[in-house]
Amino acid sequence: MRVEAVSLNFGEVHEAVRPEMPDGTVLGWDAAGVVVQAAADGSGPAEGERVVTLGGEAGWAELRAVPAALLGTAPRDADPGALSTVPVAGLSALHALRQMGSLLGRRVMVTGASGGVGRYAVQLAARAGAHVVAISRSTAQADGLRALGAHEVHPEPAAVQQAVWAVLDNVGGQHLVDAFASLSAGGSLISVGRSSEADAVLSPDALLGTGGRHDRSIRTFFLFGDPTTDFSADLTWLAGEIAAGTLDPGISWRGPWTRHAEAVKVLLDRRLHGKAVLDLE
Ligand SMILES: NC(=O)c1ccc[n+]([C@@H]2O[C@H](COP(=O)([O-])OP(=O)(O)OC[C@H]3O[C@@H](n4cnc5c(N)ncnc54)[C@H](OP(=O)(O)O)[C@@H]3O)[C@@H](O)[C@H]2O)c1
Repeated sequence: MRVEAVSLNFGEVHEAVRPEMPDGTVLGWDAAGVVVQAAADGSGPAEGERVVTLGGEAGWAELRAVPAALLGTAPRDADPGALSTVPVAGLSALHALRQMGSLLGRRVMVTGASGGVGRYAVQLAARAGAHVVAISRSTAQADGLRALGAHEVHPEPAAVQQAVWAVLDNVGGQHLVDAFASLSAGGSLISVGRSSEADAVLSPDALLGTGGRHDRSIRTFFLFGDPTTDFSADLTWLAGEIAAGTLDPGISWRGPWTRHAEAVKVLLDRRLHGKAVLDLE
């Protein structure tokens, strides 16, 4: 694939600035572009098709080789920058929400809702019929999150009065503790991220089923957990929704790849409220 655009994720950028990273390492998880050489066995898309790709490395390159299970196809006229936001953020939101089971008519909390994963999670949970409770510390994000489908927006989980059925937690720390406390009986918290980088300290009482709220769970999540997962159908579906304008990619910073240092700084300074995208052409 010839890479046309990449989106940045905190995890890979954090890795990239580590001094022990050997010279010549090519990082990069999310990339969108055009196929320049199809798989010899015909398993993937044809030359000239626009694709969106996921991988543990080599997204920040001019050319990227990708197995068919880690790419989705997109309409030829789709915006590569918008597509590049899909792999890690879109798939993480989709797969974490699926762990919750049916969301129809259920209250679902999304913490870090203004972030890359959070924006996709708000939209997908709303599409699945959930009453979406979005958490963002920034009041400036509230209108935008409502426009994406959030029914309520609160500055922190502790401010939520009514119990929720499930939580997609991107933040960890006190957000995780308070979000867990807001679960109804049988509810689950899916721990996707820990943007706060703070410890989550659960008091002994936090684990009691006070008021009949038994069987609550906290589940870990790792998108790359099973290396045999075939993401192609989900990537293609998400890319189609982006191309149709029915999913918002949540781009909050975009520029040419020559401004990569600026993009990385904005991301590491945590000044983003969504995805940062670099265009290669
Ligand atoms: N497990 C996996 O496979 C997997 C996959 C993807 C991502 N992740 C992780 O999931 C997390 C979210 O990813 P992302 O790409 O959405 O990150 P992001 O774009 O940086 O968004 C994180 C959001 O969390 C909120 N936040 C940041 N620092 C916070 C703090 N100290 N306290 C409370 N809220 C804070 C911010 O929202 P407000 O400022 O609006 O509150 C921010 O928009 C990251 O930790 C990432 O590494 C894990």
